[in-house]
Amino acid sequence: MRVARFLAGLLLAMALPAMAEAQALQVTGDAVAQSLTGSAGDPGRGRAIIIDRQKGLCLLCHSGPFPEEPLQGNLAPSLEGAGSRWTEGQLRLRLMDNKRVNPESIMPAYHRIAGLNRVGSAWRDRPILNAAEIEDVLAFLMGLKAEKAP
Ligand code: HEC
Repeated sequence: MRVARFLAGLLLAMALPAMAEAQALQVTGDAVAQSLTGSAGDPGRGRAIIIDRQKGLCLLCHSGPFPEEPLQGNLAPSLEGAGSRWTEGQLRLRLMDNKRVNPESIMPAYHRIAGLNRVGSAWRDRPILNAAEIEDVLAFLMGLKAEKAP
């Protein structure tokens, strides 16, 4: 059984190198506490991914502090203040696969990983955003703190 699973994984790894990156990830409650890359992302790159209509496409549904972007979505809450509403781990899981916290959600799973809740290695799906891009977006979102009332 273990061997079969190992072989299946190996085949997958050979066929699709992009999926081969093994990761030990754990969902704790509604969060993934661990960085997907082992380090912090770059908020500038994260912002660029969010407004990129080919990449993140976040502004199809969301609005946020992007004054240069005339068309912003109203299908989802504004990203403004997201870094105050959620912990980093909660945002990481929501970005990776929001359906795990809300099965009805229309938000795409940007980085769904098979067997995410198993401790041990899992093979990555072909994600919309790779691990580094998820961490970049996350770094930007964590900087979006709600304004304190004067
Ligand atoms: C197709 C629409 C859609 C797209 C595209 C989308 N989202 Fe969402 N998102 C939603 C909806 C709807 C919710 C509200 C919660 C739910 O559905 O579970 C949400 C929730 C969120 C939340 C939590 C909101 C809060 O309450 O603070 C964050 C953060 C978020 N999305 C970030 C992103 C980012 C970043 C991207 C792009 C990488 C993105 N979303 C792309 C629809 C979308």
